[in-house]
Amino acid sequence: NLYVVLMAGGVGVRFWPYSRNSKPKQFLDVLGTGKTLLQSTFERFLPICPAENIYIVTHEEHAELVKQQLPEIKDEQILTEPMRKNTACCIAYASYKIAQRSTDAIIVVTPSDHLILREQEFLDVIKKAADQAKGQDKLMTLGITPTRPETGYGYIQYHTDKTFAKKVKTFTEKPELSLAKKFLESGDFVWNSGVFIWGAKAILDAFHQHLPETAEVFDEIVKPKLGTPEEKEAILSAYSQSKSISIDYGIMEKASNVYVCLGNFTWSDLGSWGSIHEISEKDDNNNVLAANALMYETRNSIIKGSPDKLIVVQGLNGYLVGEFGNVIIVCEKDKEEQFRKFVNDVKTRP
Ligand code: GDD
Ligand code: MG
Repeated sequence: NLYVVLMAGGVGVRFWPYSRNSKPKQFLDVLGTGKTLLQSTFERFLPICPAENIYIVTHEEHAELVKQQLPEIKDEQILTEPMRKNTACCIAYASYKIAQRSTDAIIVVTPSDHLILREQEFLDVIKKAADQAKGQDKLMTLGITPTRPETGYGYIQYHTDKTFAKKVKTFTEKPELSLAKKFLESGDFVWNSGVFIWGAKAILDAFHQHLPETAEVFDEIVKPKLGTPEEKEAILSAYSQSKSISIDYGIMEKASNVYVCLGNFTWSDLGSWGSIHEISEKDDNNNVLAANALMYETRNSIIKGSPDKLIVVQGLNGYLVGEFGNVIIVCEKDKEEQFRKFVNDVKTRP
């Protein structure tokens, strides 16, 4: 009775101009594996979940892309959103939809743009967590051993029970740098991977308790129309009335029934060029090469472009040189905070 929800509504600003509004990161073959991140995420769950139980939630402008990339799924498995209201709304929509099919469903909610290595171990953890969520009022998270004071993640402090699912003491979403440093040094915290496992009933109860306005709107407007021709209209109305908030701030930080499961798989949210450099294959000079290029005295860099353009670089250390459609970008690859600025400046250019 397992269901999987792939959240695929993000915009991927940090990879502009590679990732754009017209094609965010989850729809790209970021790692050069021949599959997009969405396709890899979908396939990852097939050994434990039938394809017809996998739902994809995305902005309506990307429904066609989802269909192209996952031709095996039916239209009713693509839940389209009329506007971006962050992950709480996305999860509410999917949860109401799945609860209608099966009230005792166990739901795995996952980002669609992450990398998992040692997938078998990952699936083992998911299966165990799903087992423990059965008939229980428990919100399960997957914890990752932190390696740096990253401020873009959630931090989970837990009771060091001997049990597989450990009771969570505190969940802190995106702490300030000083706090993230303290968390890291204390050794008591793990990162939230962004993957959640819970019963349909447990998450709907959590919405009623912690985001009651959203729950009310979905109960009144969406629930009666699910599976009818008016579902789309109901969703538009519900989304217009719901606040934009992530599940992490909206529910995980507040709930007292959160648990964390740890596992021996490798996880990366592929959140920056630096992380892509880290996990990609590199040449003798620590360069990631995904282009037709000639390189001289170049180290620790990423060169990415189309095969029909020759890129010649010399004397670079730690750079990204990318040719993506109509834009060429040359910048220090670890200046993550700059990418948002690039996008804004391009938008506001005369
Ligand atoms: N359908 C839909 N609609 N999906 C969305 C929306 C939305 O409005 N907003 C975000 N998503 C999708 C993204 O595409 C991504 O796959 C996932 O939901 C998580 O959203 P992010 O925006 O990437 O969240 P984050 O990276 O800031 O933080 C989350 O992930 C971290 C790990 O990568 C949190 O859960 C953190 O606690 C966690 O550490
Ligand atoms: Mg993310």
